[in-house]
Amino acid sequence: MKKEFELITQIRENQSISREQFETLMTCEDAQVIDFLHQQAREVADGIYENKVYIRGLIEFTNYCKNDCLYCGIRRSNAKANRYRLTKEEILDCCKVGYELGFRTFVLQGGEDPYFTDDRICEIVSAIRTTYPDCAITLSIGEKEKESYERYYKAGANRYLLRHETADEAHYQYLHPKELSLAHRKQCLWDLKEIGYQVGCGFMVGSPHQTRDTLYEDLMFIKELQPHMVGIGPFIPQQDTPFAKETAGTMEETLRLLSIIRLIHPHVLLPATTALGTIHPLGREKGIQAGANVVMPNLSPVEVRDKYKLYDNKICTGDEAAECRFCMQRRMESIGYEVVTDRGDFK
Ligand code: SAM
Ligand code: FES
Repeated sequence: MKKEFELITQIRENQSISREQFETLMTCEDAQVIDFLHQQAREVADGIYENKVYIRGLIEFTNYCKNDCLYCGIRRSNAKANRYRLTKEEILDCCKVGYELGFRTFVLQGGEDPYFTDDRICEIVSAIRTTYPDCAITLSIGEKEKESYERYYKAGANRYLLRHETADEAHYQYLHPKELSLAHRKQCLWDLKEIGYQVGCGFMVGSPHQTRDTLYEDLMFIKELQPHMVGIGPFIPQQDTPFAKETAGTMEETLRLLSIIRLIHPHVLLPATTALGTIHPLGREKGIQAGANVVMPNLSPVEVRDKYKLYDNKICTGDEAAECRFCMQRRMESIGYEVVTDRGDFK
């Protein structure tokens, strides 16, 4: 047996990876070894979640943002972004359509928009909670005070996605304006966990100045935080940002990382992201085959879809929610996976 096969088996058994083993897997050029890595990760996911893929309905409810992250197409300095916000009624309409399509998790994502005060967020969350008591509500609205997170939780939110973006201090500074700090971002994740949310961290693959050292720090942070979810997808440049001319992350690297994350943190809810589907037509299918178990079709109204431009060439911007939902089902069935319409909780 190839020594790399043994190494992968060892990582799986120990649920941990050394810096050296990580280097070996990320630099490996032997397709058989990489196939084995994906296959092992898939076996672990199948053992816990079987051939089920969870779907989350993504509602991108505002593209206003007070932050200025250098990679992001909706950063405040991007004067070309065509800004929009959905009303509470529009958000509830998205949930209605989504519920009828079988979604039992709604993900409310947006920029850090001061218009959406804690009162407004709580009002929206409560309304969804009352109308759909059987659904999970996920928020992804950035860094807030612990008191705010507590209020949203009491209003009925159960999950929170806040990618840490990079666990390396210097790299974090390179990607963000100086008023943002890694320490605060991490603190938010710990606060959310303490309150009782199911939390998701994550990062972009191939962001400018990312190295194997910084990626390894990301893996170590995942081991430390023990999140319920990890969102990773390739970095894709957006033409109106300072990183417009940077190179995008690759599918191969993203797939390897998905598999490694599955092996070292087996129960994690791991999405095959839209960004992965954007850099390759079969990116999401390959993501599932590499160990992911979640997909997040878009439920936002078609009129606003192409305004939530985090990066260039984003897919699915012209499709109705129903089209995305069934397209995703067909895609998953084509690789032998079944889209399930329950809340899809962490096991
Ligand atoms: N404002 C919230 C926050 O900061 O967590 C949620 C919205 S933010 C736009 C969601 C995620 O999009 C970020 O965590 C980041 O990883 C990802 N993202 C932003 N720009 C991207 C790009 N150019 N390529 C790929 N992903 C990107
Ligand atoms: Fe949206 Fe395929 S997932 S059209």
